Amino acid sequence: MQSPIERESWATRVGFILAASGSAVGLGNIWRFPYMTGEHGGAAFLIIYLVAIILIGYPVMVNEIIVGRKTNRNPIGAFKALAPNTPWWLVGALGVFTGFVILSYYSVVAGWSLAYVYKVVIATTTADVEHADVFVGHITSVWEPIFWHAVFMALTVGIIAGGVVRGIQKWVTVLMPAIIILLVILIIRAVTLPGAGEGLSYYLRPDFGEVTSRTFLAAIAQAFFTLSLGMGAIITYGSYLRGRHEIPGNAASVVGIDTGIAILAGFAIFPAIFALGFSPAAGPGLVFITLPAVFAEMPLGTLFGIMFFVLLSFAALTSAISLLEVVTAWLIDEKGWTRKQSAIVMGIIIFTVGLPATLGYSVLSGVTFPGLGTDLLDTYDWFANSIFLPLGGLLTAIFVGYIWGTKNAIEEGNRNARFIKLGNWWGFLIRYVVPVLIGVIMIMGIYDTFSG
Ligand code: TRP
Repeated sequence: MQSPIERESWATRVGFILAASGSAVGLGNIWRFPYMTGEHGGAAFLIIYLVAIILIGYPVMVNEIIVGRKTNRNPIGAFKALAPNTPWWLVGALGVFTGFVILSYYSVVAGWSLAYVYKVVIATTTADVEHADVFVGHITSVWEPIFWHAVFMALTVGIIAGGVVRGIQKWVTVLMPAIIILLVILIIRAVTLPGAGEGLSYYLRPDFGEVTSRTFLAAIAQAFFTLSLGMGAIITYGSYLRGRHEIPGNAASVVGIDTGIAILAGFAIFPAIFALGFSPAAGPGLVFITLPAVFAEMPLGTLFGIMFFVLLSFAALTSAISLLEVVTAWLIDEKGWTRKQSAIVMGIIIFTVGLPATLGYSVLSGVTFPGLGTDLLDTYDWFANSIFLPLGGLLTAIFVGYIWGTKNAIEEGNRNARFIKLGNWWGFLIRYVVPVLIGVIMIMGIYDTFSG
């Protein structure tokens, strides 16, 4: 087992914020958030999601960073260090497993984005192209999505093999500012399209008539996914912090950046959807169909289109590396593998697990999950985000709240804290609010989903 002394740590104070917000900001903000909001009624979903971020997302983020910095270990090792000889390490193991599942389909969608770097050229320069046809044509072909899925996994493996500072931190420092600049440009274009107002009011005027327990489950699933919580990714990134780095303030920055970018993505997308007469409930294809249509209408659209999909791919990459880093850290810490070895072997396995999700729109298109009625990719997504992540977050909160103790956690969390201090309010959230809300919403939401 590697001692914490030899372990790498973030090279600068902002290194952690950049890496953790790089993990958080990804397909979850720009691809998943808009179509979830579209499927669950617009502004009403947005409000429930924001409440979930405040009551569950922030306290759980703090919780995971504390466990990581305290132990300087991967998620499995962290539980073993805090509660030796108990089965609690299984919560870490659930996290490592969930990371496998998420990355396997995440890479498939990121592969679509890579492919769109040149497909958007076709879609924006050909007169009268049906944007939905371009997208459907892409995902229903067999080899193309597999090829791009492989390319994306190879990039992820390459960065992780480079290490924490020279791989992860180096890349996020370049990619994060670029993502923000481009989003702002896109928003300005979208809100100035004729007909944008209808989209804005859909996004900003809540209608709670459509809200069911499934909406709440979707909102907590989105909160966990977008903040990279519930599977030990943030425990792992927190494990590369030294004691002098502050926790509550850094967590607030990461949550703020991630939420801000998701909201901005909504402003870039909903006005455009309505202005161009699309339905907001288009599901996973939403940004791949509507955004190229927006680009086709704007001057220099091809250029903006290429930039957008390059950046979406980069945002996906800074998230994917955090997913792969969890498994890698575990193999390095606990099994004595080298970094390169674990990145490559796991990359190949995760690529293989993702294959059924890629084929779910072609050869396996008839396969749906009983009761859910979802295709394979959506099925991976539903189980990972509606079940495994909230469950991981719930169990970690119970562990810290009742086993390790919020007193220990608050003491660790407040070490060198300057901007925000943890107190009983945080202990209350972790012991009561987080477990009860997640528990109730999961039970009702799952029951509601399967009972039709
Ligand atoms: N948060 C990322 C996104 O929004 C996805 C992600 C990266 C993730 N690492 C994670 C989700 C760990 C859950 C757990 O795109």
